[in-house]
Amino acid sequence: MITLGIESSCDETAVSVIEDGRKILSNTVFSQIKTHAKYGGVVPEIASREHLQAINYVVRESLAEANIDFDDIDLIAVTMGPGLVGALLVGMSYAKGLALALDKPLIGVNHMEGHVAANYLAHPDLEPPFASLIVSGGHTYLVDVTSYTDYKVIGQTRDDAAGEAFDKVSRVLGLGYPGGPAIQKAAEKGNPQAIDFPRVMLEKDSYDFSFSGLKTAVTNYLHNQKQKDVEIDIYDTAASFQEAVLDVLVEKSVRLVKELGRDKFVLSGGVAANKPLRERLEKEMSELGVKTYFPPLSLSTDNAAMIACAGYYNYKEFGPGDLDINVYPNLGLRKG
Ligand code: KG4
Ligand code: ZN
Repeated sequence: MITLGIESSCDETAVSVIEDGRKILSNTVFSQIKTHAKYGGVVPEIASREHLQAINYVVRESLAEANIDFDDIDLIAVTMGPGLVGALLVGMSYAKGLALALDKPLIGVNHMEGHVAANYLAHPDLEPPFASLIVSGGHTYLVDVTSYTDYKVIGQTRDDAAGEAFDKVSRVLGLGYPGGPAIQKAAEKGNPQAIDFPRVMLEKDSYDFSFSGLKTAVTNYLHNQKQKDVEIDIYDTAASFQEAVLDVLVEKSVRLVKELGRDKFVLSGGVAANKPLRERLEKEMSELGVKTYFPPLSLSTDNAAMIACAGYYNYKEFGPGDLDINVYPNLGLRKG
């Protein structure tokens, strides 16, 4: 069964062809990062226009790489949310038009489920149930994944997502966009213990997150140093900030795995590309006898193979969606 995946929720126009849910035949990503970098973040209006310009080309490129024709497609899976409304609409409208023209089923996919599904593509042996941390630019979730289509949300961010904090701190440090890779690189040259930034754990038993206070603490720190005319060590600041984020993510993940008694832990989302995060989780989980899974870098950040994979499992469980499907910028995870 051939699934065509289409992803356009943010600043990547991505199209992929997968076979039988888990085998990638092509995974084409047209990134707009260079366009948005000069503005210090994604400009929604520009993102929509760029998607519109790129999508036809990216689809054809992806089909050619997979060595298939339009007629070979059995299912079209498209991101329906969460994301930027104008950006989502481009992928959705294209997918609807294609489904109508080819008379093929269409399924809308939750982008966050897609991030988890990236792990099914990367690890052929991986099956639910497992505990999972999904950390992207817009969302931070701790979930119990009980089946391919059931996600029990245990915790989520009450304000900024982890990736958003990386992006904002990178901006104030003058390290550019996207912030995650830039902070990780700068942090390699710094001392993570240099500055004691807050680790916001919230209530004792809470699995929720809050990263906006940390972002403010970094901004205030930089401001105070400047006022005192003290030279700022960007590397130490980046390393100390990253350490504070990781401490919170790792502590809550470990606590969740213990509480649920799961023997598998799955990390996903753009922030899953963070090397120290991967290493720390892997180490702490292995001490508990828990196996940690994360996708390779190419499947950690936004791509359409993960959307095709999640779409395949949703289609098998629920059947096709309607052609009157909308986009949902604030779509949450289904609570199973
Ligand atoms: O999942 P994603 O590609 O897009 C969204 O769905 O939001 O995640 C993008 C986020 C950005 O905030 C980016 O700074 C962050 O992932 N990111 C990283 C790293 N690479 C990307 N954060 C920390 N360390 C990284 N190496
Ligand atoms: Zn994403």
